[in-house]
Amino acid sequence: MELKLDRSPISQVSGHVVVYGVFQDEGVDKALQEANVALPEDVLNQLQELTVFEKFKGKSGEILSFYPGDRLPCRRFVIAGLGKRDDVGTTIRKTASNLARQFGCKEQYRRVCLALRSNGDAALVQTATEGWILGSYSFMVYKTRSEEAEKEKKPVAELVFLDETMDEHEFNQASHAGKVIAECTMFARDLINEPACSMTPSRLAQIAASLSNDRVSCRIIEEDEAARLGMGSFLGVSRGSHQPPKFIELRYQPPESNFFAAIAGKGITFDSGGLSIKTAQGMETMKYDMAGAAATLAVIKALSELQVPVRVLAVIAACENMPGGGATRPGDILTAMNGKTIEVNNTDAEGRLTLADALSWVCKEKPDAVIDIATLTGAVVTALGKVAAGIMSNNDELVSSIIAAGKKGGEKFWQLPLFDEYKESLKSDFADLKNAGSRGEAGSSSAGMFLKEFVDGVPWAHLDIAGTAWTEKDKDEYSKGGTGFGVRTLCYYLLEKGKYEVTR
Ligand code: BES
Ligand code: ZN
Ligand code: ZN
Repeated sequence: MELKLDRSPISQVSGHVVVYGVFQDEGVDKALQEANVALPEDVLNQLQELTVFEKFKGKSGEILSFYPGDRLPCRRFVIAGLGKRDDVGTTIRKTASNLARQFGCKEQYRRVCLALRSNGDAALVQTATEGWILGSYSFMVYKTRSEEAEKEKKPVAELVFLDETMDEHEFNQASHAGKVIAECTMFARDLINEPACSMTPSRLAQIAASLSNDRVSCRIIEEDEAARLGMGSFLGVSRGSHQPPKFIELRYQPPESNFFAAIAGKGITFDSGGLSIKTAQGMETMKYDMAGAAATLAVIKALSELQVPVRVLAVIAACENMPGGGATRPGDILTAMNGKTIEVNNTDAEGRLTLADALSWVCKEKPDAVIDIATLTGAVVTALGKVAAGIMSNNDELVSSIIAAGKKGGEKFWQLPLFDEYKESLKSDFADLKNAGSRGEAGSSSAGMFLKEFVDGVPWAHLDIAGTAWTEKDKDEYSKGGTGFGVRTLCYYLLEKGKYEVTR
C-alpha cells in the first residue's frame, strides 16, 4: 500500500472513496466551511439533509455515505465522525482502524482518500496510518478459504491523506514511521498467533537471526553454552520439554547513538505450567506466553528500519514449560547466573525464572535503562483487566517516560508497587528465595520483587502484559489473538530517547 499526500481541495479529489472527518458537535456545515472544501451547492444540501435525518453527531465510529455521481470526481463520499476535537490525538487511531475495516480491503476500493482534518499536524497522520494498517490485520495463515473470498479481500493500493497545509517532508517522515511501527506490531502479532507447535524456541531463534543486517547482530546461545555460563534458572524451566532452549541475544548498533537500552522479553513458547500443571482452560491460550519476546523482536526490527540513533541489547531466554520426565520438580533448587539460589515451589511461575538469567545477563553491561516485558502473572489480569499493563520499577523517571510513550502509542500502563514487604513472601527455608509468593496476595508485585533480585544498579522497569497481550474481540485497532502490545510504547520511548524527529 502506498501512502500519499494530496493538497488539492476535496471537491477535486478523485478516488473510489473519499472520507471527510467531522468533529463531534461542530456541525457538518461548519466542518465543510472550515476546510474550504468548495463542494457544489447541491452536494452540500444533500449532506446537510443526510446528517440531519440520520442524527449524525460526529462521534468516533459514526459514518454516513452517498454516491455523488457526476457531481464530484469520487465514487463514494463518506462523512465520518472524529469524536471530540480535543481527544483527536487518541481517537484518530481507533477512527482510522474502523475506517480500514470498512473500506480497507474491498476489491473495488483501490484508492481511498482521507480528509481527517489534520491541519498540518503530521503526528495525526502518523497515528492514523498506524490505526489504518492495524485495523486491516487478521491472521489467516491456517484458514482454508475459497478463491472467491480471497479475491474479495484485497487491501487498498493507495491511501491518500488530504491536507492542504501539510508539509510534504513532515508527511513523508510521519507516514513512514506510522507504517513501520504498525507493520512491526503486526509482525509481533504473527509470531504470537502462530501455534506453539510451530513457534518453538528454535523457530524464534531463527526469526531473530533473520533480523540481522549491518546494524543488527544476533547470537544464539545453545543449551550447553548456557549451562557453562551459569544460566541454571533458565535451564531449569526448559528441562521438561523436548524442544531445545535458545538464549537469543540481538544487538542493534547504529553508527551514532546517544542512549543504551536493554530489553528482555519473556519467551515461553508454551506454558503448560510444568509439573504444577495448569487447568485445560488455563493453558488454552498459553501459546501467547512469548508475547514479550515477540514485542522485543518487533522493536529491534522497527528501530533498524527507522534507523533510530539508540543502541539496544535485546535478549530472550526462549524455552517451553512442559511437564516431561526431566522436568523441574517443586522443591528443586536452581542457581541463577548471578549466584542466587532459588527454590522452585511452583513450576508455573516460570517466566520469572527465565527472566532472572536474562536480567542478570544484560545488567552486566550497565545499560542506561533495562526494560523487561512479560506475560508474567494472572494477577495483573485480575488487577487491571485487559485495559492496562502493569508497570513496576526502581526508577520513577523511567516509569514516567514509559507511561508517556504509552500515551503516544495508545497503550495504557498503571504502576504497581514494589514495597520491600513483598519480599517476605519469597523467603525460602532452603534457598536464597523461592519463586512463588502466597497465592492471592499481590501476585504481580511479588513477581516484580522476585525480578528485582536480579537487577543490579541500573534503572529498570518491568512491564506485565499478561492482560493486554491477547484479546478475544475484534475491536478498534485490535483483532482477535495477539495484540502486539508494547511494541508501540517501546518504539515511542526509544524514538524519544534517540531524539528521532517525531512531530509530537
Ligand atoms: N504465563 C503465566 C501468566 C499468565 C496468566 C499470562 C494468564 C496470561 C494469562 C505465568 O507463567 C503463570 O502461570 N503465573 C502464575 C504465577 C503463580 C504460580 C505464582 C499465575 O499468575 O498464576
Ligand atoms: Zn506459568
Ligand atoms: Zn508463563
